[in-house]
Amino acid sequence: MTQINPHYQKLQAGYLFPEIGRRVKEFSAQNPQAKVIRLGIGDVVLPLPEAVRSAIKKATDELGDPKTFRGYGPEQGYDFLREAIAQNDFQARGAKIEADEIFVSDGSKCDCGNIQEIFSLDSRVAVVDPVYPVYVDTNVMAGRSGHYQDGRYANFVYMPATAENNFKPAFPKEKVDLIYLCSPANPTGTVLDKKDLEGWVAFAKKHEAIILFDAAYEAFITDDSLPRSIFEIPGAREVAIEFRSFSKTAGFTGTRCAFTAIPKDLFAKNEKGEKVSVHALWHRRHCTKFNGVSYPIQRGAEAVYSAQGKKEVTSLIHYYMENARLILAGLQQTGLQAFGGIHAPYVWLKTPNGMKSWDFFDLLLSKSHVVGTPGAGFGPSGEGYFRLSAFGFRENILEALSRIKNY
Ligand code: MLT
Repeated sequence: MTQINPHYQKLQAGYLFPEIGRRVKEFSAQNPQAKVIRLGIGDVVLPLPEAVRSAIKKATDELGDPKTFRGYGPEQGYDFLREAIAQNDFQARGAKIEADEIFVSDGSKCDCGNIQEIFSLDSRVAVVDPVYPVYVDTNVMAGRSGHYQDGRYANFVYMPATAENNFKPAFPKEKVDLIYLCSPANPTGTVLDKKDLEGWVAFAKKHEAIILFDAAYEAFITDDSLPRSIFEIPGAREVAIEFRSFSKTAGFTGTRCAFTAIPKDLFAKNEKGEKVSVHALWHRRHCTKFNGVSYPIQRGAEAVYSAQGKKEVTSLIHYYMENARLILAGLQQTGLQAFGGIHAPYVWLKTPNGMKSWDFFDLLLSKSHVVGTPGAGFGPSGEGYFRLSAFGFRENILEALSRIKNY
């Protein structure tokens, strides 16, 4: 009989968010009268901006006319979008990233998950703990981990981020090759400042490691002096890859469009010790395994950078960040210790009386009919914490807070 990839059997239970969905479905089936408020997975609720919708419609009409019809597009994305990204997201902030260093894709979850395959299976992986589970699970699937024991996979380097260190992890003590960083962080909502990022870039240079920088939530940073891209830091071009997404920023979770920036100055080495361009490897991988994001969606993403698009996106972000502010203040008023929510659409709270994260999840669901995400699902240092997402309608956020307060 055909054998499976044995590494899949090291994975713990199901992926976090489907597991939450399963529990909520079960609860709703048993309690059909309960009006459940979902602040678990960070999924947007507000509609796509008008500028985006009209660009998608216009592009769809082009596809209905033989004179403007397009078939396969470039795998890395159309130049019009890559140029808009390079100019607006990087060059406008002094980060030197060129259009041909941008790879447009269908999601930064996919890119964060797939990027590991261009690196050696011997690469030592370092993750912040708690962390977006995709970084860990995809490296387990690939075979870089040992077995799971006491909440951790052997061979991975966990960098705890807890209230004790302001959710900013210390540098690893052992040799690591791939360092996953997320800022603003999912799940803790912590943002790394310029000094923090300079430290990481210097560390990666010194130890010849590569930083995989997930900036999917950069648009939620409310202080403009904070870096939004690791490429705002001198030297980062030689040590980092950055992942970005239109999902949370512009409401593309269902529409799908994201991108990854890989500078041409970034090199890794082959088994002979020769330098190999990481950009060239990812280019090769992208051409082989991906056929591009659809033309109408790329036109929709381009419209995010139009004057009207920027205005509409800003208002979406303000809406969610006002939710975050209300959640943070509301929880703090109840006496709960809560963090994040200032530069990120997530609030990270300490569970009361040292409750386990999943017990708190069950309690909140059964008593308040509010769904959040148990911190333990993001890693062992997330135990005893809980995440609430600010991606919801205002009335639901207020209702959820009032139920939590009443309980
Ligand atoms: C989350 O809730 O952490 C995110 O929605 C997950 C994702 O973006 O894949």
